[in-house]
Amino acid sequence: MTAAKTRILELRAELDQHNYNYYVMDEPSIPDAEYDRLFNELKTLEAENPDLITADSPTQRVGGAPSLSFTQVAHAIPMLSIQSVFSEDDVRDFDKRVAKALNLPPSDLFGDGSLVEYSCEPKMDGLAVSLIYTNGVFERAATRGDGTTGEDITANIRTVRCIPLRLKGSDWPQVLEVRGEVFMSIAGFERLNALQLEAGGKIFANPRNAAAGSVRQLDPRVTARRPLDFCAYGVGDVRGWELPDKYSSVLKQLKKWGFPISRELKVADGIEQCLQYHRDIGERRNKLSFEIDGVVFKVNSIADQEELGFRAREPRWAIAHKFPAMEELTELLDVEFQVGRTGAVTPVARLKPVKVAGVTVASATLHNMDEVARLGLMIGDTVIIRRAGDVIPQVVQVITERRPDDARPVAIPESCPVCGSHVERTQLVKRSKGKETFSEGAVYRCVGRLACGAQLKQAIIHFVSRRAMDIEGLGDKSVEQLVDEGLVSSPADLYALKFDDIVDLEGFAEVSSNKLLKAIEDSKQPSLARFIYALGIPDVGEETAKVLARSLGSLERVQQALPHVLTYLPDVGLEVAHEIHSFFEDAHNQQVISELLGHGLQIQDQGELGAEFAASTTLGGLLDKLHIPFVGPGGAQKLADRFGSLEAVMNADWLDMRQALPEKQANSVRGFFASPEHRQLAEQAEQQLRDFGMHWQSEKKVVEGLPLSGETWVLTGKVELMSRDVAKDHLESLGAKVAGSVSAKTHCVVAGPGAGSKLTKANELGVKVMDEEAFIAFLKTHGVAV
Ligand code: IVH
Repeated sequence: MTAAKTRILELRAELDQHNYNYYVMDEPSIPDAEYDRLFNELKTLEAENPDLITADSPTQRVGGAPSLSFTQVAHAIPMLSIQSVFSEDDVRDFDKRVAKALNLPPSDLFGDGSLVEYSCEPKMDGLAVSLIYTNGVFERAATRGDGTTGEDITANIRTVRCIPLRLKGSDWPQVLEVRGEVFMSIAGFERLNALQLEAGGKIFANPRNAAAGSVRQLDPRVTARRPLDFCAYGVGDVRGWELPDKYSSVLKQLKKWGFPISRELKVADGIEQCLQYHRDIGERRNKLSFEIDGVVFKVNSIADQEELGFRAREPRWAIAHKFPAMEELTELLDVEFQVGRTGAVTPVARLKPVKVAGVTVASATLHNMDEVARLGLMIGDTVIIRRAGDVIPQVVQVITERRPDDARPVAIPESCPVCGSHVERTQLVKRSKGKETFSEGAVYRCVGRLACGAQLKQAIIHFVSRRAMDIEGLGDKSVEQLVDEGLVSSPADLYALKFDDIVDLEGFAEVSSNKLLKAIEDSKQPSLARFIYALGIPDVGEETAKVLARSLGSLERVQQALPHVLTYLPDVGLEVAHEIHSFFEDAHNQQVISELLGHGLQIQDQGELGAEFAASTTLGGLLDKLHIPFVGPGGAQKLADRFGSLEAVMNADWLDMRQALPEKQANSVRGFFASPEHRQLAEQAEQQLRDFGMHWQSEKKVVEGLPLSGETWVLTGKVELMSRDVAKDHLESLGAKVAGSVSAKTHCVVAGPGAGSKLTKANELGVKVMDEEAFIAFLKTHGVAV
């Protein structure tokens, strides 16, 4: 066997194992980045050796060419449906029928001896599929169709990462048909819809439709991008395997072969335990990461299943105990507008009250005006509403056929329903051809800011909340009173409150007033991250606040950061960058911040300065962020490699430029930097990155032959005897790469005083750790004078 083939087989086995750990065992064994590295290595090797590519390689999940239609396939064994019931009594009746058919005495009369063992599992809300494996290799997938014939969806199913292309182990039957449900997690569904919304694509009403729509795609490359999941719940045509005695053991064997099975699988002794299972899952239904419409009970003994057999198109040995539906029909009585913390004016549906899964629903969110338009909603319409998970009920569809003649369109108010200020449509920032263009956003905002009572109240409620400034003892009602009485008109005013102001509030007495004053006083030293979060900048949640704090290190820097510089930070897109920038440019916000500081607020700067930047900032990175037309990350890197500095790129003549890039791109770069505006933008971003103490990474790839070539080092804690940048330069001069986070691949961690989580992680992973003195001694042994 050639070296390439050996490595290819090795990589496939390793990737399959990681996939199994991740999807079936739910225990990820390596970071995503490492998985990607192995995957890319395999892809490269396969590209060099195309004859070694096999259909079961993990690289073959990207999706093949689109087809014009699906081929019909007949099921060797029909795919049946299942009897559904809603009440406990109906489930008990089912058990009685089972007991009778098996000649057991009814369990409610004779107790233990006659109890039937059932296997219980959730009824997943997706679509049923059949997967056929021949000699352990995935061969064909089909939808259920009418139960007798379905559609061939092999190319699409191949792209579903958690479905094995080759079975694990070696003891598999010659033919194995696995049946189960393809579904989409709630998180996956929401992510997909957000992406669809952005791209102007189809919005799915629920995860089941999204899963079904994704599986029934003629273009498998589209399916490959959809977050589909699979859960096995049975077998069909099996040749060369004598089934174990119990259904639950069949599932356990499927799991060993590499199929995800339900984590909620339970074996129940008797029907009462089944009912308890239904109640337990029912209580947790809203907290599950996927949607279920009930639970399924199956007689666990395979012999008993065979004896019970089938009635019409349903097995006599299984029943679905459903949960109440999450969707109902009702009427849209009116649309009202609410003003949120950031001034967003959002439409809210007022509905004719209706019970959905046991809860009366009288209103539902409509998100924004684009959503109203997308639904084609008019007041008076009959609508389908959905209450899923813990989220606010939503309107998912309009029944246009039932629209009354007097239906009225929904119109956004011109002025704020709370303060009367003007209501404006927000702008979206997009970058195209190196220019920022603004387009109309879906959100409307009241321009009243803190002068709008609704915004002020919510801004303060947010400001004092536990995860923000954490001022205890100030409930929503008290905030409303403080605002209504005119005692507080900005968060800064909280710090000027006096005992006499508070003691007269409803529900406040001497003790609670003093407590509140103390809580306000105690909040005066927030961490930078908390403070940024507390400001309530649109789109800046806790995570983004932490990233800003950690990577910029001080409030001044956050205030000054240019949008382009902000986009260097993980997960900060241009849109958010502009929100942050314009928040701090706003005169009123500046005033509130300076008043806060005037009241003695001391913000605790934090962060390992530059850590976030260092990871991503190279000249190539900067050039890429400029979005020069036709120049992608590869082209940007070529420019960086050739010219070495921004100035040289900007001033390159035509000939020089052509040495680095093909004609079209070269022209584009020269055209781009011909504009003084673009030059200024690039220079400002570069200057600010330098001002912020960012370490300008060497453009050179790993230098071979140096003592630390190929090693990754991490610096953490305070570096006291030399600056962090100097320490980093030394390491790089010896050939090491300096990274911002510790992983099993890290060679050594240099930990100064105050080292925290990185040091803990290094110790956990058994990575070598040195203190600064040892580090200096180590540098000396390599001839680096410190
Ligand atoms: S058993 C002969 N188990 O419900 C019984 N079905 O069956 C075959 N479903 O469209 C089905 N979760 O896709 C079974 N854990 C589960 C299930 C399940 C969801 C779906 C299945 C079918 C429908 C009726």
